[in-house]
Amino acid sequence: MQAENIDRFRIEKNDALIFLKNIESESVGAVVVDPPYCTHPQYAATGHYECGDGIVGDNKDAHTNYMFMRRWIGECYRILKPGCRLFVFCDKFNIFLTQSAGVESCFKYGGFITWCKPISRPAKMRFSKSCEYALEFYKGDFKIPSDKYPKDYHVESAPAGKERVHQTQKPVELIKKLLTFTPENGLVVDPFCGSGSTGVAALALGFRFMGSDLSDKCVEVSTRRCSEAAEKFEEKAEDDTVA
Ligand SMILES: C[S@@+](CC[C@H](N)C(=O)[O-])C[C@H]1O[C@@H](n2cnc3c(N)ncnc32)[C@H](O)[C@@H]1O
Repeated sequence: MQAENIDRFRIEKNDALIFLKNIESESVGAVVVDPPYCTHPQYAATGHYECGDGIVGDNKDAHTNYMFMRRWIGECYRILKPGCRLFVFCDKFNIFLTQSAGVESCFKYGGFITWCKPISRPAKMRFSKSCEYALEFYKGDFKIPSDKYPKDYHVESAPAGKERVHQTQKPVELIKKLLTFTPENGLVVDPFCGSGSTGVAALALGFRFMGSDLSDKCVEVSTRRCSEAAEKFEEKAEDDTVA
């Protein structure tokens, strides 16, 4: 698919790997991925459980998930422009496998941005899972000049109340931070887009967006949220022109 043909955004119901394979090489300014973590101990044991009401695809064993990651991270490498970044969300259990899958796919590893959630579920006799991580990978060397100096952490609880439309929804402000170094007019891609938080962040910053998800409900919700974000951006641009 030609990146120039995407005017504002496009979301499709598709498998992440098939979606990525259809994107032309070296056409993308940033990829943000929040895949199913597959770190539930009961699924990791066999990999053959049905998830019920859970997240689609969240039931792979660690090895199967690693092989899957290698395939889609390899596609992310192919579609990114040189000097651009891939961010992959993970938790404290799959962080090392995720880092390996990135560097084995030719990416350079840039460390991680910690998402710290003040409100999180306590765990009995264990430390709580109050943080998640966005691992930063880059292709080649950084080439895009910038005068921004963002911190490598973000403190915000997960969206709640009527803001919460997906079980593992990420805050839009967190994703905006990840997009700090995206080239102007860049195309942002999220192959596991869920409720479309990456798209909302990208469109609010004036980037274009392409996403996919296997769930009908997610495609519907993310399309609605991205339409609203694109409209808001256009309105703001018109107001700025008039002022
Ligand atoms: C962790 S959630 C993403 C949440 C999203 N970041 C948000 O803020 O709403 C992962 C998503 O991946 C989707 N998914 C799982 N396996 C997939 C696959 N093979 N291809 C595309 N989407 C998939 C699930 O339906 C789920 O919505």
